Amino acid sequence: MKIAILKEAAAGERRVSATPETVKKFVGLGAQLAVESGAGLDASIADQAYADAGASVGARADVLKDADIVLGVQGPDPASLTGTKPGAWIVAGLNPFGERARVDAYASGGFEALAMEFMPRITRAQSMDILSSQSNLAGYKAVLDAAAEYGRAFPMMMTAAGTVSAAKAFVMGVGVAGLQAIATARRLGAQVSATDVRAATKEQILSLGAKPIFVEAVKGIEGEGTGGYATEMSDEYKAAQAELVSSHIAKQDIVITTALIPGRPAPRLISDAQIASMKPGSVIVDLAVEAGGNVEGAVAGEIVVKHGVKIVGHRNVPSRLAADSSALFARNLFNFLSAFWDKEQGKPVLDDEIGNAIRLTQGGKVVNERLLG
Ligand code: NAI
Repeated sequence: MKIAILKEAAAGERRVSATPETVKKFVGLGAQLAVESGAGLDASIADQAYADAGASVGARADVLKDADIVLGVQGPDPASLTGTKPGAWIVAGLNPFGERARVDAYASGGFEALAMEFMPRITRAQSMDILSSQSNLAGYKAVLDAAAEYGRAFPMMMTAAGTVSAAKAFVMGVGVAGLQAIATARRLGAQVSATDVRAATKEQILSLGAKPIFVEAVKGIEGEGTGGYATEMSDEYKAAQAELVSSHIAKQDIVITTALIPGRPAPRLISDAQIASMKPGSVIVDLAVEAGGNVEGAVAGEIVVKHGVKIVGHRNVPSRLAADSSALFARNLFNFLSAFWDKEQGKPVLDDEIGNAIRLTQGGKVVNERLLG
């Protein structure tokens, strides 16, 4: 059983899919590990550290030769995967909806592609969930990015020269990233409020010491779909939400948006008119910018200024904390493969519940129902 760890090829990707810690653990299971030279450099991991943990380190062709499993943070280019065993597994964040052509190429190349972001949200898979581990760090970093762009302080400060008032921060979308954003903004001393469509988040907002801002007037909304994810809301709800947000947002200094709906474009939460109502110098961080954006005018990969308000649209925010996000991503991959490790066969054997959820391709075909349906 040979596991290959590649140097990520996507522009701006600084993470790596294994760390010396997970290499050692895989070796402990009896696997042979091969790491492409330089794979961990951007995450502050030297080649020697992988070698010390028991991996061979070398050129891509040697790493891929006869590999049974190829690990990645993002999906590797199928054309670059020469020399692996037939039917080799590709295990990574494969962006199945966004990179459909690449999924088809994995099928025609005979690979079995396993998309980690399709991991079901069930208790036993929590430790394998890359969306959670990466969102958590993204929520933290979004607040630091906001603080760095903001020309004022977050906490209230009483000085001999007078008082500096606390920043008001508003978090829109209280999933994993939003909860961490609330906690981080509170730690920095901001006055924090937050909103979501899922009613269950109200308690969570309160328990973090922030103020919930919720649409109350529209009846029969729960906002929660399958697997704890949000559903698309009614037009009536959207109108009520827009009105509520308009009056609240004009008083905010910092806004962090994180709202996503799986398989759909991100919901538009902030209009240009609402941005115009904010004070000059305010900062909005749109964590959903790569999924279409929650904020009108946000541009992926850029910081734009509209009506004196900075709109931050960094791509791939977890990669901005490459060492920690790699460590957690690598553990997600290890937790997943080791949970299914069959000692006699010396390889992982998936069960149906998780296998069917994450398997995109098998036997030359696309097999995942979310891609076929
Ligand atoms: P997500 O990244 O899909 O979305 C972020 C947040 O945006 C969600 O809270 C969603 O409700 C909210 N949102 C969507 N549309 C909105 C709108 N129009 N206005 C305001 N907010 C909107 O969600 P994430 O972070 O992946 O978490 C979703 C849920 O799944 C959470 O309850 C989380 O605790 C749960 N979860 C369960 C896991 C497990 O059991 N293995 C693992 C990870 C999360």
